[in-house]
Amino acid sequence: MGSEGYFLNQFLAPRTNCREDRWGGSLENRMRLPVEVVARVRAALGPEKLLIYRISLLDLVTEGQEWSEIVALAHAVTEAGADVLNTGIGWHEARVPTIVTSVPRAAFAHLTAKLRPEVSVPVIASNRINTPQVAETILAQGQADMVSMARPFLADPNFVATAARGEAARIAPCIACNQACLDHTFSGKLSSCLVNPRACHETELVLAPASAPRRIAVVGAGPAGLSSALALAERGHAVTLFDKADRIGGQLHYAAAIPGKEEFRGLIDWFEAEIGARTVDLRLGHAPEPDELTGFDEVIVATGVRPRDPGIPGQEGPNVISYADLLSGRAQAGPRVAVVGAGGIGFDVAEYLVTGHSTTIDPPAWRTEWGVSDPSVARGGLAPEGPRPDPAIRRVTLLQRKAEKLGKRLGKTTGWVHRAGLQMRAVEMLGGVSYERIDAQGLHVTTPDGPRLIEADTIVLCAGQESERGLADALLSRGVAAHVIGGAEVAAELDAKRAIDRGTRLAATL
Ligand SMILES: Cc1cc2nc3c(=O)[nH]c(=O)nc-3n(C[C@H](O)[C@H](O)[C@H](O)COP(=O)(O)O)c2cc1C
Ligand code: SF4
Repeated sequence: MGSEGYFLNQFLAPRTNCREDRWGGSLENRMRLPVEVVARVRAALGPEKLLIYRISLLDLVTEGQEWSEIVALAHAVTEAGADVLNTGIGWHEARVPTIVTSVPRAAFAHLTAKLRPEVSVPVIASNRINTPQVAETILAQGQADMVSMARPFLADPNFVATAARGEAARIAPCIACNQACLDHTFSGKLSSCLVNPRACHETELVLAPASAPRRIAVVGAGPAGLSSALALAERGHAVTLFDKADRIGGQLHYAAAIPGKEEFRGLIDWFEAEIGARTVDLRLGHAPEPDELTGFDEVIVATGVRPRDPGIPGQEGPNVISYADLLSGRAQAGPRVAVVGAGGIGFDVAEYLVTGHSTTIDPPAWRTEWGVSDPSVARGGLAPEGPRPDPAIRRVTLLQRKAEKLGKRLGKTTGWVHRAGLQMRAVEMLGGVSYERIDAQGLHVTTPDGPRLIEADTIVLCAGQESERGLADALLSRGVAAHVIGGAEVAAELDAKRAIDRGTRLAATL
């Protein structure tokens, strides 16, 4: 493990190696430790066993390595006994994202391709390779001899077998959210996967065939309802899945509309493929009445959420819209926007409002945006001119009532990327505000510094949500004990991880 700013990498970079003895200074001295380690490991392994060295091709920190040093190291470690070179990208200290969902797929394969002709051993491309098609393209273009995947195997342990059967659409995709894998790791919790809650819980969360198959209604085809319907069908139950919308996915569609969250589209597509492949009776465009549900053996209510009413005087005005109106395209925003509420949705909405073109689907533009250069040009691969994002297409102010740093509760390994993205586009962030009123001029607030008018053409409400419990309550009043899951059960934040976990766990018990 010679990358990511770990021990071996620290000896290689002038940034951290300040030694003046034979372990520091010249390139030969800085390389000595990794080369010695490889030689000793090879000696301990004997000649037959495979030794892969993960080499940092892009440190993404100041005073990192430059390309000629990386190539010299590649030669030295292969001569010392490494059989294969894997690609490492970015130190943990780097302030450029390297694996989150807004990083383009296969964003760094061009560097593996750059190393390949320099060495005689196979090279492996890594990071954000999450579908067989992406992997195949890298191999077909000759960018690498092999590809590495980490998180995709958490999302779907059958990835390889399903790809080999030619059924790529049925592979549960890693959406690179980090919510249940790395965020857990760095919080001291067991890693798992948002898309596949069975990951690392395989022996405890078991979807065994049902002893007595039953007729089960699931109302709501968002992540909670979809995951319970799939797990119930897998167990052999007869499942009827209802949704009042004419498509499945629920609020996942809002996520997929955010620039940088395109991967959510793949998750919806996968749910569609799975529902189509299983025996689920899907009834779209239909919100069942309680009486229609009394004939089922079990009823699962996954009706999701509705926006919370923040009760701001003037919010009925024509300049006020909800995040759902905005992200579904039902309403447009003007050039100056105030966003009320800075939870996960508020941050996403701000990103949507300031971004003209998603760089996640345009790797060269993404590199310019984050200041990623070539390590042949600049040490560490950091562009001397720094990040150069496209200018914001709107002037946005993001507000919250809590008197804490905005975005504090975002994901542990992803929150900083969202905050940096908005800061780069000059989004003003204001905490500790009280919302006084809305009029034609904009949003009047009281800040810790006193009263202030946020001049805005449009005010977008992202002030949280409440459980949509109408059906659940109506069923209860008829004596039908429904199981309530997802946002209909807990609406604190939109949380696909909790919804999918809850839906799958409930299905395992019925
Ligand atoms: C839970 C988890 C733990 C990881 N731990 C390590 C590690 O100890 N050393 C390492 O080199 N990479 C580690 N990685 C990073 C992966 O090796 C890989 O570089 C990264 O996840 C990007 O590839 P992917 O998009 O295929 O997941 C870890 C990744 C995850 C998800
Ligand atoms: S939690 Fe998210 S990033 Fe991690 S493996 Fe699952 S889908 Fe991928």
